[in-house]
Amino acid sequence: ASFNLLLLPGDGIGPEVMSEVEKLVRWFDKESGNRFETERHLVGGSAYDAHGVAITDEAMGLAMASDAVLFGAVGGPKWDKVPYDCRPEAGLLRLRKDLELFANLRPAICYPALADASSLKRELVEGLDILIVRELTGGVYFGEPKEIVTLENGEKRAVDTQLYTTHEIDRIARIAFDLAGKRRNKVASAEKRNVMKSGVLWNEVVTRVHGDYPGVALEHVLADNCAMQLVRNPKQYDVIVTDNLFGDILSDVAAMLTGSLGMLPSAALGAVDPATGKRRAMYEPVHGSAPDIAGQSLANPIAMIGSFAMALRYSCNLVAEADLLEKAVANVLGSGLRTRDIAARGANAASTGEMGDAILTE
Ligand code: NAI
Ligand code: MG
Repeated sequence: ASFNLLLLPGDGIGPEVMSEVEKLVRWFDKESGNRFETERHLVGGSAYDAHGVAITDEAMGLAMASDAVLFGAVGGPKWDKVPYDCRPEAGLLRLRKDLELFANLRPAICYPALADASSLKRELVEGLDILIVRELTGGVYFGEPKEIVTLENGEKRAVDTQLYTTHEIDRIARIAFDLAGKRRNKVASAEKRNVMKSGVLWNEVVTRVHGDYPGVALEHVLADNCAMQLVRNPKQYDVIVTDNLFGDILSDVAAMLTGSLGMLPSAALGAVDPATGKRRAMYEPVHGSAPDIAGQSLANPIAMIGSFAMALRYSCNLVAEADLLEKAVANVLGSGLRTRDIAARGANAASTGEMGDAILTE
């Protein structure tokens, strides 16, 4: 098959880690029997410098038409004072909005070779492989009214609104059950139905959608208990589906179970394009542009490479190829190669390019 990838390296270490992915894309183009066409565009601060906007309409058009967008990272002190609408994050937000990226997939995988870097004891995390599915476009971050008002007595009152519709919960639940069906057939749905109406509806809709997935086990868990369980015994979970706010927090908790920020990939899935029948999607590392290490070849490319593996799996349906790439990463880590962020203090560390090349050779 043939795939169009839009590469948006962005700022700081974004271009450094994307270069390693480009090597891998070229390898898969040559060796896998599939064609990968890539286009590369600026996004974030670098796009602002060149075009005066955080993302051009041309790049947006390509994003809408591509099989997958690979996104590096945006931002940095250089652009702290640019106009609000042009700030680097505006590029990311426009992509999320226009592609309707409502499902954020955050895997937390603990490689045996790195289990000692976890915040938890080795035996609790070794071999950990969970997937948090966070609703990304609804909930309290976007619900209206959202305001700070001054009351008659001079006090102020801040309002945020947690708001979910049946449709929003239904579609995120389906993503979670579909994914669990390709994993270990277990979904935990986290909400707070004991104190929130949105939790009651969330629980109801997820239960109803579960009726279409008899092969997958469903457990309802209160979100605070879920946070506790993630730290007590994370391996009990397979897929966790939750709303925007709880997902923000739970995915950061899960991240710390696995070690470095430089290791964490993510995917954001969107609406199915009616013209092509394909689901819009963007893949990006969890980390930012790391201005403190940019330009020094110190960045760990594994988060970006893992994001490409997710693109192979979810947008290209190339499961064997995704497995191969993830296995190569595990093998290279098993061989002891480390970038500075995951190396023992004082140990010799590999550069961004050396890590990328080792994974490519593997
Ligand atoms: P950051 O993730 O860029 O860096 C946090 C720390 O982790 C730094 O010490 C950095 O050196 C280290 N780190 C991050 N990725 C690494 C990698 N691949 N290899 C080795 N070390 C790595 O977060 P920070 O410092 O809060 O933000 C820096 C800039 O990035 C800001 O402008 C922020 O707005 C932006 N940002 C962008 C995101 C995006 O594009 N999605 C996400 C988060 C932050
Ligand atoms: Mg967060």
